[in-house]
Amino acid sequence: MRIVTVPWEMTRLVTERREAGQSVGLVPTMGFFHAGHVSLMRAAREENDFVVVSLFVNPIQFGPREDFKEYPRDLQRDVEIAAQAGVDCIFHPRVEDMYPQPYLTFVEVEGITEGLCGASRPGHFRGVATVVAKLFHIIPAHRAYFGLKDAQQVRVIQKMVEDLNFDIQIVTCPTVREEDGLAMSSRNVYLKPEERRAATVLYRSLRRAEEMVRGGEREAREVLAAVRETLETEPLVEPEYVEAVDWEGLRPVERLQGKVLIALAARVGKARLIDNVLLEV
Ligand code: PAJ
Repeated sequence: MRIVTVPWEMTRLVTERREAGQSVGLVPTMGFFHAGHVSLMRAAREENDFVVVSLFVNPIQFGPREDFKEYPRDLQRDVEIAAQAGVDCIFHPRVEDMYPQPYLTFVEVEGITEGLCGASRPGHFRGVATVVAKLFHIIPAHRAYFGLKDAQQVRVIQKMVEDLNFDIQIVTCPTVREEDGLAMSSRNVYLKPEERRAATVLYRSLRRAEEMVRGGEREAREVLAAVRETLETEPLVEPEYVEAVDWEGLRPVERLQGKVLIALAARVGKARLIDNVLLEV
């Protein structure tokens, strides 16, 4: 497995592979790999001749009071996990090479970035869209893989690709969970043991929503009230939002019909955790 740090060398390597007739898959990540990341790598491995994983903790998607500095990093371990998953190349650029100073150009996806996580993380999706646009240029892949755990991020990338005519296929992969249901996240390492136990309520509350909908409930208000009630059983969990939105526009819905995302964010200790279920009603 190769490790490339210089953007133009990465572009040259991928361009050579394309010209040799190979298909290229890209998995964008911020590292500290867990089984969720590995599921994306394996999906990319199955569908492409050449697989690149980008590993870059992107400073511009973190707010001034967020965890950029503390974000967990372990390059050595990540390299081993990626090699094990059959990845061909890791792109691990330096911040100075991604953001030459003064850095002045950003990608702003409007509308769908305003609600859910966008409401409490101003500038976050601008940072995500900008770095992913740059990665798509540096690594001209045929397909790029994203996890539905970050559902709003998936919609932002899909819309950016549509609006800006990127020639790349976005492949989405299901959320990978721990045995007790907690969605895998690099940020789970922030949880103390009792917080880790409490955090299982996130997915339990979403499963309750799913069951209500399966049982015929169509009023968003009722379903969201049940989710909040379940979350309240854990005093260590402080909900930030609980919402039901349509998949297309991520706008709050009153009636549950069609493709509906039930999404939540909560603080548990010093971790901010998100989770969701995507329902076809
Ligand atoms: P990161 O949080 O490292 O996640 C990288 C990819 O792994 C994302 O597509 C994310 O949705 C996916 N992922 C994370 N946890 C998952 C889980 N439990 N199951 C399935 N997939 C999961 O998301 C980012 O990095 C960044 O915002 C990035 C897109 C790389 C831009 O900087």
